[in-house]
Parts: sequence; C-alpha cells; structure tokens
Amino acid sequence: MTVTFFAPCPRGLEALLQDELEQLGAQAVVVTPGGVEFSGPFELCYKANLESRIASRVLWRVFHGRYRSEQDLYRAAYDLPWPDWFSPRDTIKVKVSAQQCPLRSLEFVTLKIKDAVCDRFRASTGSRPSVDTRKPDLRIDAFLERTGVTLYLDTSGEALFKRGWRRVSAEAPLRENLAAGILKLSGWNGEQALLDPMCGGGTILLEAALMALNISPGVGRSFAFEKLSHFDERAWRALCRASRSRERPRIPLAIHGSDLDGVALKAARANLETAGLSEVVKLEQADVLEITPPADEGVLITNPPYGVRAGDPVELSAFYPRLGDRLKRHFAGWRAYLFTSDLRLPTLIRLAATRRTPLFNGALECRLFEFKMVRGGMRRSPIT
Ligand SMILES: C[S@@+](CC[C@H](N)C(=O)[O-])C[C@H]1O[C@@H](n2cnc3c(N)ncnc32)[C@H](O)[C@@H]1O
Repeated sequence: MTVTFFAPCPRGLEALLQDELEQLGAQAVVVTPGGVEFSGPFELCYKANLESRIASRVLWRVFHGRYRSEQDLYRAAYDLPWPDWFSPRDTIKVKVSAQQCPLRSLEFVTLKIKDAVCDRFRASTGSRPSVDTRKPDLRIDAFLERTGVTLYLDTSGEALFKRGWRRVSAEAPLRENLAAGILKLSGWNGEQALLDPMCGGGTILLEAALMALNISPGVGRSFAFEKLSHFDERAWRALCRASRSRERPRIPLAIHGSDLDGVALKAARANLETAGLSEVVKLEQADVLEITPPADEGVLITNPPYGVRAGDPVELSAFYPRLGDRLKRHFAGWRAYLFTSDLRLPTLIRLAATRRTPLFNGALECRLFEFKMVRGGMRRSPIT
C-alpha cells in the first residue's frame, strides 16, 4: 500500500532533500518551503529515517481534509483508527502548528485533538494513552492552514539531526542536518582535503566523516516507527545490516579541524570518540589567523562566530579583514565556504564571493558564501 509522508528540513535545503529521497525510491515528490512531500510503501520511511542526512523528521500523513471549527478537528481525529496503529500503553504528545489559521487558540486545538485520540482509544480498548510532553513514544502533528488540516504520525521520534553522537555541546553548535547540507552544497567529494578551522564541537567534521565513510546517519539510534503495531522488524533489521555492510573502513582521512578554544576542542574530541571517529579526523588547537593549509588544494568549510549567538560584532569587524588576508595569502588553490548570519561578511573579509546561498538556521536567515582562492589576490566583491 502506498502512503504519503512529509519530511521537514532546514529552509534552503529542500532540493538536496528531494535528491536524497528520490534516490531512496520516493514517488510523487513535491517540494514546499521547509520540506518535501513524497509517497511510497510504508517501509520507505524506515529508509528515509535511517539514511537521510538532510531531513529533520519523517511524518506519516494520516489525514487531510477541511475544517471550520475545533469540533471538526475533534471529529477528524476521533474517526482515525489510532488503536490499530499503536497501543494505549504508548505515551503521546500532540503538536499543532498553523499558517493563517482562523481559530483563536492553538492550545485549545491541541487539547481537542489529544482528547479525540484518547476518547477513541477508550471507546475501542477501554484504556487511553498518557501524555508525555518531554519524551513521548509517539508524536502526533497537526498542521492547520486557513481551511485545511493535515494530521501526521511522526515516524522519527527524536529529531533526525540528533544522531546520537553529541556528548558535549560547544558554543552555538550547528544542527547536524544543516552541516550535512552545507557540505553537500560545497561539492566536497569526500576525497579532497577538508578543513574546518573554527570547528567548535566538530559538527561539520563529524558529518563529513560519516559521509566519506558511507555511514548512515541514523544507524544505531531508535525511531518512533519501531513502536507502531505494524512495525516490520525483519525488514528494518535487513535495512540496518545492508547499511552497515556498505560502510567503509574507519581509516584516517584528510579531514582536519582546529579551534582556538581548548574547551571547544575537548567537546569535538568527545563527540568524535562517541561516534567512533577519533582516528578518522585530525584535530589541533590553533588560531585561524595563524594556520597554514594541510594540503595544496582542498575545501575549507566553517561557521565563524557571529553577532547574534557568539562573538561581539565590533570585534568581528576587525577579525574578518584579517581572516580574508590569511585566506588570500596562504590558501591559494582552496575553495572556502563561510556560513554566517552576518551579511556584511564579504565586504568585511574583502574577498569576492563567487556564490551566496540563502539558508535558514532555525528562524535566522543566513548565507553560505563561497570564495575561490586563486594565486595573485582577488578583487573585493562589489555587492554584498
Ligand atoms: C559558531 S562557533 C562554531 C560552531 C561549530 N560549527 C559547531 O557546530 O560546533 C565558532 C567557533 O569559532 C571559534 N573561534 C573564534 N575565534 C577563533 C580564532 N581566531 N581561531 C580559531 N577559532 C576561533 C570559537 O572558539 C567557536 O568554537
């Protein structure tokens, strides 16, 4: 039987997610801002959860229809066969999001949908699931538009960017799926030298190592779909085995990270160790303004400190020109990708950006700036 899914992702990465899902066999793919809708057999969500580096979640669409009142929403939710899908012993959480919804209180809508699910369970089985807003077994998502409502059962559980290796958080860490998207946008092929000279807790390095070694991002973690009554454990085990058999041996790779801050490096080390990747990535404590490249050519990808979350904007205005100088003098032959919400960066760094890709870090509008470092200097970018 074919079912429909929706996978949300960081805005700006929808096309990459579409590619990933199509490679996994997704049909009827529709790209919308912030996510991708697709169809396939139910087991397709096992694959998407296990293998997508870009999706934030994979939601199974269980209802789509029109509504006018809270009572319509209650009815729509009550009529679904929830007890066929999971047990009343599983805990649930209902999450409602809306765009142009005319109803007054989303909290009240949340309550109505939760009541509908519980009432349906009580009528069919005599007992009802409990609510756990912190760590539920299953999440029910409702998305309300002006006249339409879509209900989803979340097949992921914990968000997919929680890969399970982040033991220690450094300052302003990137989400893992955003880091993976940035790596893909850079065109890094897994063999070229890679350097993140302001690596913080090592998110970019870890995602790079997983990609280069063909390690599925979801391998080893659990998913909400395992709680569903029709969970096909044999099919899931077979997918996990197949994924493990495609992994490359964990040998040292040309993936290099450095940071000025010893505490950040400690976090990166701990995270690499948790992921079993400490032998694969080289780490070093260094000031980016004093580093030399680890190879003649390569790809530098980094997420410098920026005003909103880290770093003083005034200090940063002094830092960027020096960073530009360092890249110009020492990194000829490299492509550099700087991910930031500071749109002054190309002006301050005094390098001509060859590409600027808009991306969102949550609600924060950012850019991925590309600079191709050529010998003999570069013109400053006329536009910012
Ligand atoms: C926004 S954070 C990077 C976060 C990282 N991408 C992650 O996901 O964990 C910026 C990092 O730049 C580092 N940094 C700031 N100035 C530096 C410098 N002059 N040289 C090297 N690293 C520096 C900070 O210590 C911080 O870890």
